[in-house]
Amino acid sequence: MPLLIKNGEIVNADSRFFADIYAENETITRIGRDLEVPPETEIIDATGKLVFPGFIDPHVHVYLPFMATFAKDTHETASIAALVGGTTTYIEMCCPSRMDDAMEGYQLWKRKAEGSSACDYTFHMSVTKFDDITESQLREIVKDGIASFKIFLAYKNFFGVDDGEAYQTMKLAKELGVIVTAHCENAELVSRLQANLISQGKTGPEWHEPSRPESVEAEGTNRFATFLENTGAAGYVVHLSCQPALERAAAAKARGTRLFVESVLPHFLLDKTYAEREGLDGMKHLMSPPLRDKRNQVHLWNALGSGTIDTVGTDHCPFDLDQKLLGKDAFTNVPNGIPGIEERVNLLYTHGYKAGRIDIHRFVDAASTRAAKIFGLFPRKGTLSVGSDADIVVFDPNYRGTVSVNTQHTNNDYNGFEGMSIEGRPSVVTVRGRVQVRDGQFTGERGIGKLIRREPMYF
Ligand code: URP
Ligand code: ZN
Ligand code: ZN
Repeated sequence: MPLLIKNGEIVNADSRFFADIYAENETITRIGRDLEVPPETEIIDATGKLVFPGFIDPHVHVYLPFMATFAKDTHETASIAALVGGTTTYIEMCCPSRMDDAMEGYQLWKRKAEGSSACDYTFHMSVTKFDDITESQLREIVKDGIASFKIFLAYKNFFGVDDGEAYQTMKLAKELGVIVTAHCENAELVSRLQANLISQGKTGPEWHEPSRPESVEAEGTNRFATFLENTGAAGYVVHLSCQPALERAAAAKARGTRLFVESVLPHFLLDKTYAEREGLDGMKHLMSPPLRDKRNQVHLWNALGSGTIDTVGTDHCPFDLDQKLLGKDAFTNVPNGIPGIEERVNLLYTHGYKAGRIDIHRFVDAASTRAAKIFGLFPRKGTLSVGSDADIVVFDPNYRGTVSVNTQHTNNDYNGFEGMSIEGRPSVVTVRGRVQVRDGQFTGERGIGKLIRREPMYF
């Protein structure tokens, strides 16, 4: 059925104006005032509301075998949580381990999502080893519509690649015109520091941050940038958490390296004191790179405002309390990850835009448009424009609420942002013109999400 969103204030990354949006056949076909529409059109009154392009989360984990267990969400639960929170497209890390076959992993990750996600999605293809068949497999995967790779400089012997493998991945990425995303921590230093701390009986979650200090992330970020410069590839640092790493990334950008930077919601709003809480409360807040000293947050917000940090993702990665307890005797066994796919947009709007740290266009850019541009989804996604997919968020700026595990859709038994206030939330959310959320509740159809094919970008 055609759809008309009337009387709203449209806010794109580069424009703001009052107009109606008309969508048919999954696409925005007209934007203007007082549009004439066919009688069968569904009409949504957006008076008093902001109308944003569907938000894009560039970094999520849904299916994830990791640290002797599996992340808790399915694509059904993750996508419903995403949609309620205004995210209409997510990019999942496809993460076969070093022991797995990459192509089999890719097919498995695709099967997990197909017919299950209620919103659109694509993948970053992780390269966790580089052997005789990796190159031909990656060529096939890129032909199949995947335009970004992922490497881990951390997680030695599991996801982590060595410098040679990182180099080969970047060389191939350069040739194929795809971007390489990277988790930037020095794996060797992390594993040595972990072993030292454990041998001294320092086993609680408060030792996670000292085992992966800021300098270790700064080294990884600098190394990644240096490899990009010497291979000519374009790159994207995921979940950058601290000022020293930011300095390295900003310096590389200033030198002209084709480097983009993502930080994730937990690093803007939570700090290492959360992980220093006693026992399970601390374990809930264990992720990598770790929650940092609070002094870093002002640097992250400033860099987000100026655009040095390009995007805000979540690194959504739900492990429940029982799973966190796998690490009760050693922080090195706590499954790493904090969920956030549902909270990202509302918390960034509230604590970023409403708090005066970023303007509203930067908010839209960082949470939607910039990711669409970097990862080859633009202008199909990331903007409210004629010809774009009708992924639309009608946002109620007058809503007031509090984040709570009791109302979340993510499949988990805690919320890392418990008790934080939100000032505004999506009231209606559409995916390609189909209304999936009404009055802030999921009322749509499961399984209609599509894998969005992306072409190489040749940055
Ligand atoms: O702690 C995290 N970040 N867990 C998920 C895996 C990763 O490094 O992205
Ligand atoms: Zn990571
Ligand atoms: Zn991640």
